[in-house]
Amino acid sequence: MTLSNLTSRIPGFHRMTTAERLEAVAAFSGLDEASVAQLGAPGNIDAHLADHMIENVVATLSIPVGVATNMRVDGRDVLVPMATEESSVVAAVCNSARQCYDAGGFTTSVSGNLMIAQVQLTGVTDPEAARLRILERCDEIAAICDGCDPMLVRLGGGFRDLEVRVLPTRGGPMVVTHLIVDTRDAMGANAVNTMAETLAPSIEGWTGGRVLLRILSNLADRRLARARATWPLDAIGGAAVRDGMVSAYHFAEADPYRAATHNKGIMNGISAVVLATGNDTRAVEAGAHAYAARHGRYTSLTSWEVTADGSLAGSIELPLPVGLVGGATKIHPTARACLKILGVSTAAELARIIAAVGLAQNFGAMKALATTGIQKGHMALHANNVAIAAGAVGEEVPRLAALLVERRQVRQDVAAAELERMRAG
Ligand code: MEV
Repeated sequence: MTLSNLTSRIPGFHRMTTAERLEAVAAFSGLDEASVAQLGAPGNIDAHLADHMIENVVATLSIPVGVATNMRVDGRDVLVPMATEESSVVAAVCNSARQCYDAGGFTTSVSGNLMIAQVQLTGVTDPEAARLRILERCDEIAAICDGCDPMLVRLGGGFRDLEVRVLPTRGGPMVVTHLIVDTRDAMGANAVNTMAETLAPSIEGWTGGRVLLRILSNLADRRLARARATWPLDAIGGAAVRDGMVSAYHFAEADPYRAATHNKGIMNGISAVVLATGNDTRAVEAGAHAYAARHGRYTSLTSWEVTADGSLAGSIELPLPVGLVGGATKIHPTARACLKILGVSTAAELARIIAAVGLAQNFGAMKALATTGIQKGHMALHANNVAIAAGAVGEEVPRLAALLVERRQVRQDVAAAELERMRAG
């Protein structure tokens, strides 16, 4: 078969077993045996479960889960599982947390478990009056929303508040209703989306307009998690390091180009715990970056200040819509085990620990950047990957990695040549 008559239209693909799908994909892409065996190998989630989690499954992808040590959060020592493919991320959290451990570790808080669902109403000629007509129905709206999820209400959650805005847009004014819902220990996307969809016909009836979108907002600014910690001067390594770190923060605070990277570093830690616990990394990332731009200019998610005694005080605040029930959190066996490692019993506790990890990650990145630079530590760990990619196995991996670091040439071509030399004796 030539490339031009390959077709991506595979009838009944979604009804096939995972093995059949893999066979079809292998035929399409001309996969070699080793690739087929690799894709077909079971990970720590069985094929049946994977097949039920998403559509058209052919394989699973395993990501390493590391555990961050030295974390003390609100007076409790916790071990934090982090799923990431990036070297240095877990090590940075361990080091940063060790440096503030004796000073008490991290103090955290949350604003609540409130999620927002949006209902977009268009085509009203009197948007201001429509806005009030919706607000007047607050009790009725509460009953409709709570009626969608009696279980949530029994657990102490449910409808909490109503906001209605007239939004000027390119396509004319829209009336946007926000349903504010306490989703307790669920991330809550399904709960609030159901409420928004159920409410839509009533809003149309009250206003004469037309409802289009009914969906949660990922800017979950009613579900903020916060963490702060103080690093004593001697633990940081002196005033010059501290001042360099504060200057790094001032840079991120002033410049979106730097802030994007600064916040990416924070999300290295946050997304790793979110993923390890089976939560939605994209929801948290979208919310974090939108929150970082909430004042009209994208800026740092953290703040850093020098305290009266010369220590460095860091703080972070961001939306953290994570849950303990529902979705992959509940059904992925690794996620469940990771939650057991954390020993959390509420979504709020999980969010607080995640915020602390984000702060620790930022401390580690800023300290490295303001001193030796990121490459020294990173390359030492990255060298292992380069050695493996060059074909090193077993004992060869640390030997080759150390050699690459020593020569300051952590490169694939150098690794391949050195490996050959090592093997030749
Ligand atoms: C790399 O993954 C993350 C950093 O770039 C973060 C930062 O620059 O602050 C090191």
